[in-house]
Amino acid sequence: MPGFEIIGEEEKSQILEVLSRKVLFRYEFDAQREGVYKVEAFEKAFSEYCGVNHALAVSSGTAALRVALAALGVGPGDEVITQGFTFVATWEAILDAGAVPVYTEVDDTLCMDPQDLENKISTRTKAIIPVHMCGAQARIPEILEKAAGKNLPVIEDTAQSCGGKLQGKALGSFGAMGTFSFDSVKTLTTGEGGMVITDDEALYIRASEYHDHGHDHNPEVGRGLEKRNFIGVNYRMMELQGALGLAQLGKLDNVILANQKENKGRIKEALAKIDQITFRNIPDPEGDTATFLIFFLPTAEKAKAFNQVMAQEGFGAVYWHENTWHYYNEWEHLLGGKSCLPSGYPFKDPSGEARCEYQRSVLPKTDELLSRALTIPINIHMDEQIPEIQKAIEKAAMAI
Ligand SMILES: Cc1ncc(COP(=O)(O)O)c(C=O)c1O
Repeated sequence: MPGFEIIGEEEKSQILEVLSRKVLFRYEFDAQREGVYKVEAFEKAFSEYCGVNHALAVSSGTAALRVALAALGVGPGDEVITQGFTFVATWEAILDAGAVPVYTEVDDTLCMDPQDLENKISTRTKAIIPVHMCGAQARIPEILEKAAGKNLPVIEDTAQSCGGKLQGKALGSFGAMGTFSFDSVKTLTTGEGGMVITDDEALYIRASEYHDHGHDHNPEVGRGLEKRNFIGVNYRMMELQGALGLAQLGKLDNVILANQKENKGRIKEALAKIDQITFRNIPDPEGDTATFLIFFLPTAEKAKAFNQVMAQEGFGAVYWHENTWHYYNEWEHLLGGKSCLPSGYPFKDPSGEARCEYQRSVLPKTDELLSRALTIPINIHMDEQIPEIQKAIEKAAMAI
């Protein structure tokens, strides 16, 4: 799963190229940098990799979502639909934009349920954010169809599925915009970092201006003389991150994804021998990043019993049902409407009136699926562990 496993000579030499010129900022210092523009080069390479016209590097995956929402003009008074099983950042970005998150169930892909999406679209819906969770595809054609019927833009949160594809096309490149995370545990890592991709030039320009204090990036004048079309913020990526990104992108397909696929296949073989186990539905197994291996037991009790043995053997699986960062039901700050502001915003208006309230146990389908699901994170280097994991699986099978 994490690109940090393979940090090596390529990353070191990329970083040294930056350090030797002492230019850490992505803009300006043209003479001093001697033609070295790492963030720009990473953006170009990433857009080519994804087959899109534009890529904008930003400081995190959360920033990427926030920038995409700003570019699409999403703000107070709007609703944005996402799913109840995602990292909490998807919701944070919507709330930070001043919009209200509306949630859908996930289906057996563990991504947005397109059927439930239809139920959740209202006159206030301004955008839809399906999340390609845990390394594999959401049902993006169905989601795009429902969105197009209502003329709504789709932002694909691809933070967990960098390098994934659907019928050969890069995840993140289907909707109006796609967002990525390169944080410390991601498949491609720059320590912290993110990317926004789009084919739409106008959206790219708005995103680029918003992420850099509104700078209009006029090539005719120096940075200090640039003008602003609107208020922005600073979500810039810096040169060291761009350098790391270039090195990691060079290894994404042939090293990272190739090893993960092989490792996942070997572990899956052991699980497939157990009758009671079924696997997460992956719409296009060819395009899976193989970052996670997710399987279902027939009941929550059996999932827990199986996992107890796995844990005893040193290979406890992730049980998302009780995870406090990725599952709506366990977000106590959200359910409690807790804000750092005395006014209670974004849960309340400055007048004290409720803007949005969230209750536990409102996603029965998601709850049922997650209660039976176990997840084995897949690493790039697992040769020594795999025989041990296979043995642990055989042992765990006797407990169900
Ligand atoms: C689905 C999803 N969206 C967004 C993010 C946020 O990315 P970052 O940690 O780079 O802010 C993450 C991070 O784990 C994620 O998993």
